[in-house]
Order: sequence, then C-alpha cells, then structure tokens
Amino acid sequence: MKAIVFDEHGDIDVLSYRDIAAPELRAGEVRIAVRACSLNYHDVFTRRGMPGIKVPLPGIPGCDAAGQVAELGPGVKGWSVGDRVLADPVHIDRETGKIFMIGDTLWGAYAQYVTVRASQLIALPDDVSYADASCLPVAYGTAHRMMVTRGRVGPGDTVLILGASGGVGTAALLISVMRGASVIAAAGTDDKCRRLAELGAAETVNYTDVDIARYCRERTGGLFGGGGYDVVVNFTGGDTWARSLRCVRQGGRVLTCGATAGYNPPTDLRYIWTAEMDIRGSNGWQRSDLDELLGMVRSGALVPVIDSQVPLADGVEAHRALEERRFFGKIVLTADAPV
Ligand SMILES: NC(=O)c1ccc[n+]([C@@H]2O[C@H](COP(=O)([O-])OP(=O)(O)OC[C@H]3O[C@@H](n4cnc5c(N)ncnc54)[C@H](OP(=O)(O)O)[C@@H]3O)[C@@H](O)[C@H]2O)c1
Repeated sequence: MKAIVFDEHGDIDVLSYRDIAAPELRAGEVRIAVRACSLNYHDVFTRRGMPGIKVPLPGIPGCDAAGQVAELGPGVKGWSVGDRVLADPVHIDRETGKIFMIGDTLWGAYAQYVTVRASQLIALPDDVSYADASCLPVAYGTAHRMMVTRGRVGPGDTVLILGASGGVGTAALLISVMRGASVIAAAGTDDKCRRLAELGAAETVNYTDVDIARYCRERTGGLFGGGGYDVVVNFTGGDTWARSLRCVRQGGRVLTCGATAGYNPPTDLRYIWTAEMDIRGSNGWQRSDLDELLGMVRSGALVPVIDSQVPLADGVEAHRALEERRFFGKIVLTADAPV
C-alpha cells in the first residue's frame, strides 16, 4: 500500500510517501480502506518521538480514520466489505491494562489502508461525509469530554480558549457556543482571529501582538473586582501556562488536555491559591462522546471546521502546514484505494 512513513524519529524530513507492505490481518481485526484521515498535532509528537511511548519503527502517523471495510480478519462478525465506518483510534486491553492507539503505538491512517480491531469500528451513516467523520475522534472527542464532561461549560460562562484556531480549539469553541457560553478566542494571527469571530467567538485576541494576561485585566478588571474568566482552556502549556493562570476569575477553572509547547512549564502557585481555581485535566474521549458528536453532525447542529482536503500523496506537505501553524481547523488527507 501507499503510506506516509518514517523510519526514525526526527524533523519533517524523516517522512516520505512510499510503498510499504500492509500488515497481515489477525483474528478479530478489520482492514479499512481509508477515505479520510484528519491531522492532529499528535502526529507531530508521534513523528518526533514521545518520552515513555514506544512507537514501532518504521512508523505511520494518523489517528483519525474514516473509510470502508476492505477485509475481515478471522472470526469477525457483523461487518461486511464495503461498510462505511469510523474507527475509534484507541483499543484498551483490559486484561493487561495496555492502551493501543493507531498513529501512535500502532500504524496509523496516513495510508491507503489501516488495521483496527473490529470492536473499534463505529458504523458511519450515509449522511455523514468521510471528511467530517475523520475530524471527530481525537480533536472533537477530546474537546467534547473536556468542555462538557470535565469542564461543565454552560450558559453564561465566559470561556477563554488559547490555541483556538486548531483542531481541539475550534471544536472547543463550537461546543462552548452550542452550550450558551461566551467565548474569548485567542490565536496567533489576525486572519485566524477573523475566522474565529465568524465561528461565533464573542471576542478574539491575537496573542502574537497582545499579552493575554494584560488583555484580560484591561477587559474584565482585577481579580478582587470580579475580573477574569469562568473557564480558561490551555492545551498549549509552555510559556503560556503561567500567564493564562492570571486570566481565571475567583473560583474559576482551568481545563487542559495537552501541552503543545511544553509539558513541564513554569507555573505560579500564587494565582492558583489566590483565585481558588480548579485545574482539571481531561484525557481523550469515551465512545459516548463520539456517538453524541456523530448525532450532532447528522442533525447539522455541528459542522466540523475543515481547512483543506489534501490527497494522501501530498501528505508530507500537509503535515508540514500543520506543524508550521499554516491552517485553520482541521486538515484532512483523502485516499481512494479499492475495497
Ligand atoms: N489528551 C488528549 O487526549 C489529547 C487529544 C487531542 C489533543 N491533545 C493535545 O492538544 C493539543 C492541541 O492539539 P490539536 O491537534 O488541536 O493541535 P493543532 O490543531 O495543531 O492546534 C494547536 C494550535 O495551538 C496554537 N499554538 C500555540 N503555540 C503553539 C506551538 N508552540 N506549536 C504549535 N501550535 C501552537 C496554534 O494556533 P495559533 O497559530 O493560532 O497560535 C495551533 O493551531 C496538542 O498538544 C495535543 O497533543 C491531547
């Protein structure tokens, strides 16, 4: 099959589009002919290598696959060749406690075919496109769990989202607006800010030009005067972490699901205790998040924000655009291998 492959961890030049033998199907597994695979920042981490996670080499990135069942492994029942499916990227082996994830510890979907366990398949209704479906698991599933289950964002909440222009960020914005919250969307360019306003952000801030803590203080006032936001969403980490703690109102909450710019940032305990804030982690999604999101897409209540659809053969350049932050929402790779 054709795939975007890396033989070693490193910068973008370790990626190449080439032929590689598809793995044999084992009992309980299904081969999917990938029709759409959305890109996530996780793909960059997989390519670079992550401390504590062993990625098999050669590796293939890509966690989010929508496509058609191409082949059934021994013992698989209830699915047929040609079925439209979305794959839940994660399989947890409850006996060993091990987590397996495509585009991470298993070969991913920057490829014509990807293999998952049959239990990971979700039937994809005809009225949900492969591209829309491929946006859902990692970005929208994580945003849904973070904003709804963990964050309890609701009507009247003011929600500051850093990195609002990316996959999780646009999803968090859309979900917050659907729940009646008022979103302050922060991003790195004026053009991204303009597009965030079109998606329903009440305010936008370009944090390349403006210090976010100063912006918050000027707009809302000091902490003891009732200033700050109810919810601050920070999955960027790095230098942004301590500054963003200054934007939380008394008794507010910080939601985090990632650390694009660094997972071990300096913090400032004074703001945590003074504002009596809650810092809530949120990790991934449950199958119920994906079912709910698919329902929202079917009803038209949710339209995933897609930057562009790019043929698999051009996947290295698409991955470069992701890493260089030259996109808005989700980039989707497309493929059309036979079933
Ligand atoms: N725990 C989980 O289960 C889970 C699931 C999904 C994602 N995550 C994590 O959540 C984070 C966001 O993921 P994503 O796929 O939404 O990423 P993404 O689509 O690449 O968006 C991230 C956005 O953050 C902004 N940003 C700020 N500083 C950055 C930096 N130093 N490098 C890159 N981008 C920077 C960029 O927007 P501007 O250019 O506008 O600044 C970028 O568009 C990642 O850290 C990811 O690993 C975790």
